[in-house]
Amino acid sequence: MSARHVYVHTIGCQMNVYDSEQILRLLEPLGYVKTDSVNTADLIILNTCAIREKAEQKAFSFLGRLADLKQKKPDLMIAVGGCVAQQEGKRIFRRVPFLDAVFGTGAIGRLPRIIEEVEKQRIRVLDVDMDAAGNEFDLPEPYPVSESVSRFVTIMRGCDNYCTYCVVPHVRGREQSRRPESILREIEALVRSGVREVTLLGQNVNSYGKKEGLCSFAQLLAQVNRVEGLERIRFTTSHPKDLSRELMLAFRDLDRLCKHIHLPVQSGSDRILRRMNRKYTRDHYLGLVEDLRRICPDVAITSDIIAGFPGESREDFEMTLDLIRTVAYDGLFAFAYSDRPGAPAAGFSEKVPEEERQRRLREILEVQEQFTLKKNRQQIGRVQEILVDGMSRRQMTADGSQAEVQMSGRTSENRIVNFMTDSAQAASLMGKMVKAEIAEAFSHSLRGKLTAAF
Ligand code: 5AD
Ligand code: SF4
Repeated sequence: MSARHVYVHTIGCQMNVYDSEQILRLLEPLGYVKTDSVNTADLIILNTCAIREKAEQKAFSFLGRLADLKQKKPDLMIAVGGCVAQQEGKRIFRRVPFLDAVFGTGAIGRLPRIIEEVEKQRIRVLDVDMDAAGNEFDLPEPYPVSESVSRFVTIMRGCDNYCTYCVVPHVRGREQSRRPESILREIEALVRSGVREVTLLGQNVNSYGKKEGLCSFAQLLAQVNRVEGLERIRFTTSHPKDLSRELMLAFRDLDRLCKHIHLPVQSGSDRILRRMNRKYTRDHYLGLVEDLRRICPDVAITSDIIAGFPGESREDFEMTLDLIRTVAYDGLFAFAYSDRPGAPAAGFSEKVPEEERQRRLREILEVQEQFTLKKNRQQIGRVQEILVDGMSRRQMTADGSQAEVQMSGRTSENRIVNFMTDSAQAASLMGKMVKAEIAEAFSHSLRGKLTAAF
């Protein structure tokens, strides 16, 4: 069978990145090889995100751009998966008539069959069944050889929290944890293929295993910490209502666990937190931050904030700005609220006008920028351990030969550090832990000077 080419385009979160990797793996036995250009593809798969309106618009504009290509190449197959596929189901066929398949978030495991059906019968296939069999966490070995230093590993799917603004429980289904043996097997295989860092993914890793009676998340981390050859462990996301003391202590006790926690607060006003159904108060959240910093003084804390949730008054918003200043986050993601189909807040009254949402968003980002820069500047003069994961700009000498190469990596606290190195040494540093003294600080990165490689 001659090789056919598949182009996978991913929109959205890390979980989608992981799912797209699984999609590529699943299609390999059908003879599909990855391509980086839509023009050489026999099959194009779009993995979509529905978290905010903007992400959904991105999906439809990508599909719109494919219309011409499909007309020129009628044999080209185009499939749409992910959260928008789950949310819209067969309505997508009406909006984008040239699609061959729509598969939901629970249908990834069945994708090979779906694609075979399209290939053989040239029919349109729709599979948005979230409960059908054939989408287990385990995929058969062997795992592919990895080209990257750092990889995502999904440890949970779905969400049971029903925050009122959020579409995730509706498009990703009920929370479901993967067995520790299966997670460890995958991580061990990744390490064998050269991976040095894993990020464990779940909508709320703090409730890992509770429903199924598996081990706790902190216990899972302890097991991952023992995987030989793995340098670093990260995880995301933590819901503040379930952050346990056991997990806080993991930051102190597990040597490979990176000192960074993403702890989305969403709002600093108790009134809004209640309307969001977040199930914690501002004081409880601030208490968690205090405890975390007492247990692990260096821990970096980042967060998500929604600007202009329905009913958010200027006073509520001021409480959010005040919380940002009180916590002094290491980094922050902020979003203007958008209505999502199926999420209760879409039906809430007192909508904040779009312009005002955007204004508040800008205000949040402005306040945070000073903190990010200040915290980055505090790094100057410190020697940091960095896991090297990228090679970017090259500096050429006058005769065209390469003198120095710019490489990059991250600190344990997840700050990006760029440093220059000899071109002869560069390749051998990829995937290695190095030490660098921080010399300069910017808003999104640091510049360091290599002091040791080990
Ligand atoms: N509007 C704006 N932001 C949202 N988020 C989730 N749903 C919405 C929405 N409807 C944000 C939250 C969440 C992050 C992943 O996306 O801050 O933590
Ligand atoms: Fe959405 Fe809330 Fe679940 Fe996060 S915890 S995925 S915000 S419902």
